Amino acid sequence: RSVDSALRRRGASSGSRLFSSESAPERKVAILGAAGGIGQPLSLLMKLNPLVSNLALYDIAGTPGVAADVSHINTRALVAGFAGEEELGKALEGSDVVIIPAGVPRKPGMTRDDLFNINAGIVKSLCTAIAKYCPNALVNMISNPVNSTVPIASEVFKKAGTYDEKKLFGVTTLDVVRAKTFYAGKAKVPVAEVNVPVVGGHAGITILPLFSQATPATNALSEEDIKALTKRTQDGGTEVVEAKAGKGSATLSMAYAGAIFADACLKGLNGVPDIVECSFVQSSVTELPFFASKVRLGKNGVEEVLGLGSLTDFEKAGLESLKPELKASIEKGIKFAKEN
Ligand code: NAD
Ligand code: LMR
Repeated sequence: RSVDSALRRRGASSGSRLFSSESAPERKVAILGAAGGIGQPLSLLMKLNPLVSNLALYDIAGTPGVAADVSHINTRALVAGFAGEEELGKALEGSDVVIIPAGVPRKPGMTRDDLFNINAGIVKSLCTAIAKYCPNALVNMISNPVNSTVPIASEVFKKAGTYDEKKLFGVTTLDVVRAKTFYAGKAKVPVAEVNVPVVGGHAGITILPLFSQATPATNALSEEDIKALTKRTQDGGTEVVEAKAGKGSATLSMAYAGAIFADACLKGLNGVPDIVECSFVQSSVTELPFFASKVRLGKNGVEEVLGLGSLTDFEKAGLESLKPELKASIEKGIKFAKEN
């Protein structure tokens, strides 16, 4: 709150137009896939975010209705709907943050990699448009398989000459949200106070929660408890896919997680200090070119990719066993983008 009021004072005393009457700079957020299961509640949550001045809702169809609906909410953001490829440029122009939940979700029995054939092409064409219409935007990639779609995006941007590794994020916040919830339940600590870093990637064993670094710390959990919490976090997406029994994957918890991550990006852009979230980014934390870990966000996107900290033997083993799968998924994405 003190930072916010300091920023406000600065804006007022310098007579700067940086801050609107609503006390935060103008920020445009575009959501691609806004009419979908994630897209709709995410549009709602971004409309509720006072840091957003303009909200562009894009999908291949259905967005005029979603935009009309959300636009009646009496909050700051001006909402516009865009439908069909010919409107994509207008949706993207001037965006500070682009959130991408476009693409097909899993059904029971599928892995996230089974979505590659359809979603790789969708992500590639959307990122080609981002390179053209808003090359400086921060890109929050939700579409699966994240372990491959982020490398695809990086290659598309490299080809276009617009790649900035500080501005591309795979959204792994839902893994953190789950790890926090499951840890709080088991350790019987207040969930609102819990923090748990989750590193690696966003599929099965590539999701590695570091419960040894969870806060508030507890002695109440046995090794077996930690193993069970790890497995439940890794299988969290599948738990929802099975419960939805053919009607898709996590949408509401994902919208919440996507809104948390986009809010962190906006705060970073606005110069709020000490904004740290886990995300799958270009990284030298391990030998792999992309890796999820804690990231400090700032005015240009990634300010610092933070290391893994000290790991238990169980976590070290998890780290080594996830590397081959994560490496293969990254390479698959890069190969697709180079060949298509
Ligand atoms: P959904 O099918 O309900 O919605 C997807 C939307 O994308 C649809 O409205 C569809 O019209 C739209 N779309 C398809 N092609 C498009 C294109 N070319 N341009 C713009 N929009 C397009 O699916 P959902 O449940 O919202 O899931 C979306 C994606 O998010 C899936 O790939 C899913 O696996 C992924 N997901 C990721 C996480 C994560 O943690 N990163 C969590 C949950 C879901
Ligand atoms: C999730 O973790 O819920 C998403 O990646 C969707 C899925 O397919 O599990």
